[in-house]
Amino acid sequence: MNFLPAEMIKKKRSGKPLTADELRFFVSGFTENEIPEYQMSALLMAIFFKGLSPKEILDLTQIMIDSGETVKFVGPTVDKHSTGGVGDKTSLILGPIVAACGIGVPMMSGRSLGHTGGTVDKLESIPGFSTQLSLPKFKKMVEENFLSFIGQTAAICPADKKIYALRDVTATVESIPLITASIMSKKIAEGAQGLVLDIKFGSGAFLKEKKQGLLLAKNMLRIGRLFGKKIKIYLTSMQQPLGRFCGNALEIRECLEILQNKPFLSSRGVDLYADTRELSLQLAGTMIFLGGKSSSPKAGYKMAKQVLTSGQALQKFLDILKIQGGRIDELPVAKFTTKIQSVKSGFVQGFDTEAIGWILVGLKAGRKIISDPVDPSCGLEILIKMGDEVKKGDLLFVVHHNDPVSASTLKALVETVVFAKRRCPKDQLISKIL
Ligand code: URA
Repeated sequence: MNFLPAEMIKKKRSGKPLTADELRFFVSGFTENEIPEYQMSALLMAIFFKGLSPKEILDLTQIMIDSGETVKFVGPTVDKHSTGGVGDKTSLILGPIVAACGIGVPMMSGRSLGHTGGTVDKLESIPGFSTQLSLPKFKKMVEENFLSFIGQTAAICPADKKIYALRDVTATVESIPLITASIMSKKIAEGAQGLVLDIKFGSGAFLKEKKQGLLLAKNMLRIGRLFGKKIKIYLTSMQQPLGRFCGNALEIRECLEILQNKPFLSSRGVDLYADTRELSLQLAGTMIFLGGKSSSPKAGYKMAKQVLTSGQALQKFLDILKIQGGRIDELPVAKFTTKIQSVKSGFVQGFDTEAIGWILVGLKAGRKIISDPVDPSCGLEILIKMGDEVKKGDLLFVVHHNDPVSASTLKALVETVVFAKRRCPKDQLISKIL
């Protein structure tokens, strides 16, 4: 069928829904370089302002799935996806936990981009670790070892890949219908039967407001169910960085220590690993439930805790690292550390977590554009949490770096902490489960 792209842009601009045939014509035409970027950009902006109907979101998801390959697994498989945050390393803990329970975890992840980190960069900080397995090898590994970590491949949803790159440079990323179709198409094509989504909101998330997160959650839930997925969604806080470390090799170190059941107590007696551990266990528990190995998420949580404390999850992690070539004993360490002390006393009310993410990009722990190199050993240790009482001179951060860090970066880092005069609440990590 042939349509006029300009007419379709006009139709969407006036708020009218596009038919499945029209959407397919536009998306396929763009993927095959028959429709130019300027017309796709105009359509994306029209969608940004006028939205998509529930049927259009469903159609767009199907069209993106159809643009590439799909995977089918033998045996129960459950995946987890997070909308991204600062210090979010839960995939590396929950993956081994769920796999150790005999449920396949096909972990296909992205690289860091903008202020949020990426699981692939964290794993690639381990010398020798390969995230570039072919789809058949990935499938075999999940079926035999219950876990594999790979990077996103161009074979899955190529239409989304091309459209997402354009959205990134045309200010059309923050559209709930487009995000829904983009994430869900990839997750459905990747073939896991169950899916746990961790939608982040707050200062370090790309959705700042909880109500935006909730809207995205409802849309994703609907699409997941329509495609026959067992799906659960967590709405979690990204008001402060997760855990103790941010930065690739440093986050691997945090995961290893959690898998070894080590706490890390701050000078105030707060376990800085508690939030990473708790969120990983919660998500893993729900994955175990969706994978049919427990009667409820609560029972799944208990199982996850047992597998973590017994060391089975650690063993699974080490096995997978070895199979994929990783030499964990050679994890890189930055040459220098710089300590940053507080210049005032008060209570930690919050953080500008996105600013922390951008400081990490400046330290080369992340990247502005996808071709930027990453320094695996750089990053931050964050020694305070929301609700803590801090005295002037207390340690706030330790910067791990190889290149000199400017005074303005150190000042900017101190300014990411929001202090209050009165005692303030701790962060509520898990806000809602749908
Ligand atoms: N991540 C994706 O994969 N797609 C989006 O649209 C937003 C975040």
